[in-house]
Amino acid sequence: MQAFRAALLRFDDHGTAVFDEDGLLVIGPDAHGTPVVRAAGAWSALAGNFPGIAVEHLPDRILAPGFIDLHVHFPQTDVIGSPADGLLPWLEHYTFPHESRFAEVAHAAGMAEVFLDELLRHGVTTALAFASSHPASVDALMGAAAQRNMRLIGGKVLQDRHSPDGVRDDTEQSLIDTEALIRRWHGQKRLGYAITPRFAPSCSPAQLRGAGELAARYPDVWIQSHVAENRDEILWARELFPDARSYLAVYDDFGLMRGRAIYAHCIHFDDDDRALMRDSGAAAAVCPTSNLFLGSGFFDYEGAERVGFRHGLGSDVGGGTSFSPFHTMLAAYYVGREGQTKPGLSLAPARLWWQHTAGAAKALGLDGVVGNLQPGCEADFVVLNPRATPLLARRTGHARTVDELLFALIVLGDERVVERVHVAGVPTWPTPTIEPPRRAAA
Ligand code: GUN
Ligand code: ZN
Repeated sequence: MQAFRAALLRFDDHGTAVFDEDGLLVIGPDAHGTPVVRAAGAWSALAGNFPGIAVEHLPDRILAPGFIDLHVHFPQTDVIGSPADGLLPWLEHYTFPHESRFAEVAHAAGMAEVFLDELLRHGVTTALAFASSHPASVDALMGAAAQRNMRLIGGKVLQDRHSPDGVRDDTEQSLIDTEALIRRWHGQKRLGYAITPRFAPSCSPAQLRGAGELAARYPDVWIQSHVAENRDEILWARELFPDARSYLAVYDDFGLMRGRAIYAHCIHFDDDDRALMRDSGAAAAVCPTSNLFLGSGFFDYEGAERVGFRHGLGSDVGGGTSFSPFHTMLAAYYVGREGQTKPGLSLAPARLWWQHTAGAAKALGLDGVVGNLQPGCEADFVVLNPRATPLLARRTGHARTVDELLFALIVLGDERVVERVHVAGVPTWPTPTIEPPRRAAA
């Protein structure tokens, strides 16, 4: 068992932040040997229950759940900051050429390490990630994540049309490959597989049908795609699928709307789309830095709350501009303000934080497993330094409430705040330095 004494941030079942200024977090194996949270709460209430336990004291630090990135593209790590008029030219000029390189096993393997380093450096311990259309890119990502014992969910992109040579796949082979990858990776260690149609315009009806059949045959596998991001994209999807009620309904028509289905963006929706999200149990990955960068639009937080469908936050790197959950939360705050007609709703800092931790876990169907520090949750957590920069030290130093403290971190924070990351209980970032073996005396 390991124990840590510091400030402690977690969430109750309603998504309300619970903050202990002087807290205790106890980690230990569950009945299966998985390192989980055994106790979390105020030091004064809990310390007496663990007499003699060795406690690491972390004064002025905050223990918080590892962040969850609900939507990110592993092969777009080097695409960040590539400007274009909008989504479709950005895909054509930057994204597809970059992703074509992931056919090379060595390139994919090297980039998997870079990508996972970036996630951990920013305090992200769980991600739902697109690989490229090459099965080897999934093997590279999953193999590297397994080595770090990370909870990573990913899948091979399906795109059998309207895609250039180098990334376009073959309908039948793509489905055979997907099933083989599900069998190889889903449920191994902490890994999960996601059936990954890129977006309706890049998938033939036969490919979407096959994806839906796999989704029915493997009900605990995830589904991820994009929807209603950009107006040109929506017009294109409507032309290609004229019989569907809406762009989102295309996915429903092919059996791709259910729990564990995560759709990125969900910007240009009507209330029927929102009701379809709610009733099917699908969830939205809101990606505000990407939406602002590509000029896609503003997620309607009020609409989502009013109709009541699940949503959490994603970076959407490389359309997104940062791996940092702090930057994503700040961009979400700006987006929420833009669409706001009544004050307060989803803009509170604890609510933004929840959308990137426990709320994102709920969207994935992994509540109680990751994204929180309640007893039983897997021991993925970050040690945050609220005084990591001079300005942060000033601002957090006179924060009077938890909201003020969290807001200061969201507005001024970045990876400098993330001092240490524990994955399944093990300090994994910064990479622990291994002492060179001592030479025996001659
Ligand atoms: N729609 C289809 N592919 C993509 C992608 O790679 N990024 C984003 N943001 N939208 C997409
Ligand atoms: Zn995306």
